[in-house]
Amino acid sequence: MIEIGGSGRLWVLSGQRSSYALHLTDRDELLHLHWGPRIAVEDAEALAAEPGPPDWPFESPLDGREEYPVEGGPRFARPALSVHAGGVRGTEWRFDGGTVLDPGTGEELRLRFHDPLHHLGITLHYRMRDDGDVVERWTTLAHTGTAGQEPVELLRADSAAWSLPARDRWRLSHLHGRWAAESRLARTELTPGEKVIGSRRGHTSHHHLPWIALDGGEATEESGEVHSCALAWSGAWRIAVQLLGDGAVQAVGGVGHDDAGQLLLAPGESFTTPVFAGLWTDGGFGAASRAWHAWQLAHVVPGADRSRPVLYNSWEATEFEVSEERQRSLARLAADMGVELFVVDDGWFGARTSDRAGLGDWTPNPDRFPHGLKPLADEVHALGMQFGVWVEPEMVNPDSDLYRAHPDWVQHHPGRARTEFRNQLVLNLARPDVRAHLWERLDTLLSGAPIDYVKWDFNRSFADPGWPGDRYPRRLWIDHVRGLYELLERLRAAHPGVAFESCSGGGGRIDLGVLGLTDQVWTSDNTDPLDRLAIQHGFGQLHPARVMAAWVTDSPNVMGNARVSSLRFRFVSAMAGVLGVGGDLTRWSEAELAEARDWVALYKRVRPVVQHGELYRLRPPEGDGLSAVQYVRGAETVVLAWLQAQHHGRAQPPLRLRGLDPAATYRDLETGEVHRGAVLAHRGLRTGLSGDLDAAVFHLRRN
Ligand code: GLA
Repeated sequence: MIEIGGSGRLWVLSGQRSSYALHLTDRDELLHLHWGPRIAVEDAEALAAEPGPPDWPFESPLDGREEYPVEGGPRFARPALSVHAGGVRGTEWRFDGGTVLDPGTGEELRLRFHDPLHHLGITLHYRMRDDGDVVERWTTLAHTGTAGQEPVELLRADSAAWSLPARDRWRLSHLHGRWAAESRLARTELTPGEKVIGSRRGHTSHHHLPWIALDGGEATEESGEVHSCALAWSGAWRIAVQLLGDGAVQAVGGVGHDDAGQLLLAPGESFTTPVFAGLWTDGGFGAASRAWHAWQLAHVVPGADRSRPVLYNSWEATEFEVSEERQRSLARLAADMGVELFVVDDGWFGARTSDRAGLGDWTPNPDRFPHGLKPLADEVHALGMQFGVWVEPEMVNPDSDLYRAHPDWVQHHPGRARTEFRNQLVLNLARPDVRAHLWERLDTLLSGAPIDYVKWDFNRSFADPGWPGDRYPRRLWIDHVRGLYELLERLRAAHPGVAFESCSGGGGRIDLGVLGLTDQVWTSDNTDPLDRLAIQHGFGQLHPARVMAAWVTDSPNVMGNARVSSLRFRFVSAMAGVLGVGGDLTRWSEAELAEARDWVALYKRVRPVVQHGELYRLRPPEGDGLSAVQYVRGAETVVLAWLQAQHHGRAQPPLRLRGLDPAATYRDLETGEVHRGAVLAHRGLRTGLSGDLDAAVFHLRRN
């Protein structure tokens, strides 16, 4: 709902439980008024009538109060917009008018401004849908001049700025990591100055997820005010959070890591930034996560009302030792276990018998698949499973037919070394000829065999982002990502039955942008079930279980730390998301295969609740004790609990469940035991976990 007040210069957007308000001064300054509980237009008008800060010569009257701070004028905080044209930097705008679109569904507010000197049109977009509290914000920048006029260089064009009020304290939560250790939650006191997170790698990165949460230091999992923001972009990005001198906070975020120039707009050209979404809640970090999850499932992830199948992936079992016969053996064992989607990972194409060759040549390796992928795909289908393949379209090995034919298609600087990681170079997807080639290859692949699923990988970062011959090579940082989105959109439209997974050496490309075009993401190459709990804890702060792929692999774990763990612990860990299996099943004993079959069957029973329910984090995986999550959907609830280590024979505390009806009774669907709702909520559920690396699943239904 959008309401207008203040003689047409004040707007209040309201969702289920919160409002967001802003107004224009008579000098066309666009000032933030409110982001918090629902308010009326009259409340916003009262806020707008309050006196501004005192007039001091060394203080800006605008810093920390503007919706979209531009460079120049009486401002010293970091600008969201920095441009230059014809030797003049900065922006001075005039208000051109506001429009409210789509009343009834998801209302969008557009505020249009114009800098006459640069012929730059600036439109600020706001959308707050009626079914939640996420405020979606983005900006469109357009060169409105006529042919022959100076182009405008966008040095920096953030999506939005968020203003938080002056408080005694501010605490920042964010997600950080590295390869095989992604999305770990950190909480830190904000001190005066700036905290900057981002990626200068060309992809979202394992190192930071584009999400922040801010609270006054008192919020808990269950209560307290939390403001959080997330950026929908899969390339280089930056979020800068600044604690200002008066205790207010400004957070700006957008594409690109620095301010060295992003795009050159010629007359008639425009750039639409990605969405930088924000959410306020007073229900603590748990309510914030649930609201983010609900919004993504309703408005971001395609077809999110459909459950994701249990998959098997052959990577850890075979690495590059791929053969049709071995894949068939694994497929039979997987089908017998109840797996629903069988995926052939790396090593099926070109000369790809190691990571030194073949990337770029997307035709089946003739020695390994002499009749192509179809015979294997047909057998997988006959076994009752869907069939999937791994690709890494944005890359080439120098030892590939594609690179030999088109050495100029990779990002490179003339006269400089071409930096390799994992023996590969990055194709320049900003080039239309590269995109046309990839479209043709991938469309042929998906048309040539009955493929239901594509794992789309990206296994190195940008290092030499050059584009010889282009008038403005720096645009490839943005245009590579736009090229990726375009390809994914086109493939999805042409092959609507195919699901896509975003992978980047594990979780190097997880964000709200790619999730708008994919069905799930590969969370991490780290498949150790204990390490995974911390990774999943961070992931779930923003993203729902419905998109979080997790595999049960071999013990000792082969990818990271060689930890030995039971099949029970491995399954319960991976059941917290979209369950997969990735071990070498040919080496599992009959007893292990039978046990795995039971776990897969149990997962299918709890899946609707895990993938579509509301998540409550009962105990975080901190220290070495008990941790647990709970999912609630209608009358059903599922609890997954893990104990890392028991000490001194101490029994574990009961888990106090959330979201239940205290007046109802709940039956454990596996054991038949009946619990009272009030007892589960106040005393808690006894898990009976003991020893090291123990785990359990509880599936309850309200009577
Ligand atoms: C990346 C992925 C893995 C696997 C390998 C194949 O590391 O994250 O799951 O697909 O590539 O080379």
